[in-house]
Amino acid sequence: MATALVTGGTSGIGLAFAGELAERGYDLVLAARDADRLAETAADLTDRFGRQVETFPVDLAVRSDVDRLVERLTDQQRPIEVLVNNAGFGLNTPLVGTDVELQDRAIEVMCRAVLVCSGAAAEAMRSRGRGMIINVSSLSAWIYKGNYSALKRWVLSYTQALALELARTGVQATVVCPSWVKTELHERAGVKRPRLPGWAWVEATEVARVALDTASRGKVVAIPGRGWRVAVWVLRHAPDALPRFFSRRISKSRSN
Ligand SMILES: NC(=O)c1ccc[n+]([C@@H]2O[C@H](COP(=O)([O-])OP(=O)(O)OC[C@H]3O[C@@H](n4cnc5c(N)ncnc54)[C@H](OP(=O)(O)O)[C@@H]3O)[C@@H](O)[C@H]2O)c1
Repeated sequence: MATALVTGGTSGIGLAFAGELAERGYDLVLAARDADRLAETAADLTDRFGRQVETFPVDLAVRSDVDRLVERLTDQQRPIEVLVNNAGFGLNTPLVGTDVELQDRAIEVMCRAVLVCSGAAAEAMRSRGRGMIINVSSLSAWIYKGNYSALKRWVLSYTQALALELARTGVQATVVCPSWVKTELHERAGVKRPRLPGWAWVEATEVARVALDTASRGKVVAIPGRGWRVAVWVLRHAPDALPRFFSRRISKSRSN
């Protein structure tokens, strides 16, 4: 039985990835900080899908924890076939006079851990001639919403480069850019959910399904939601004034 490892697999998008992967026949390794929640989630997934679920308590902002996770990712006796770098959090902090400690943590969790885990997993997968790495970015990568947009842009760009390096190795790297998803992220970050029409939100299960299907087809960028695929196409081809306009509108909707 193949095994998939999901970071942040206890809530929101990560939990949806875990469910979708279990449904597709994978055993799981779930990594997150809260050990009790990990155990509850593992028991629930085993109940629902009959898969083996290993729990891996880890704080991805702590480098020695990331090193432990790398050991698990590169254990050739217990190979990981799919890695989903999903763990992350919202950043509701200005850039001017910013909270540097929080920004450091965001960089560690959403960039450094992604870089280190992807690189190590890719090497192990390449030696076996197969595997899949999915990195969770955001639609924010195409607009300018503080350092969150900048970090998610990094995830997008990094995964594109990784996919090029892994071409013809049997290992697929894919980045998924969800729009807005109703998870714990906004509340945890103390951010008001933006006031958007219903169609603007996507379900976490759709994010996981689209990402896995896109990776299975050997494609690099996954954007859940037909409307959002069109929106990204427009953002990529329009003058820069357009993403700046949207960024201002979204900031305004949060401050109202
Ligand atoms: N929700 C959205 O609208 C949206 C849109 C686009 C992209 N995203 C991205 O999707 C990913 C998942 O977010 P979500 O919305 O599903 O958020 P969520 O519901 O808050 O879930 C976050 C998950 O990450 C784990 N986590 C957070 N910090 C961690 C750390 N330092 N070390 C290890 N695990 C950590 C959490 O578990 P513990 O607290 O137990 O560690 C939890 O399992 C993030 O990368 C986010 O940026 C979200």
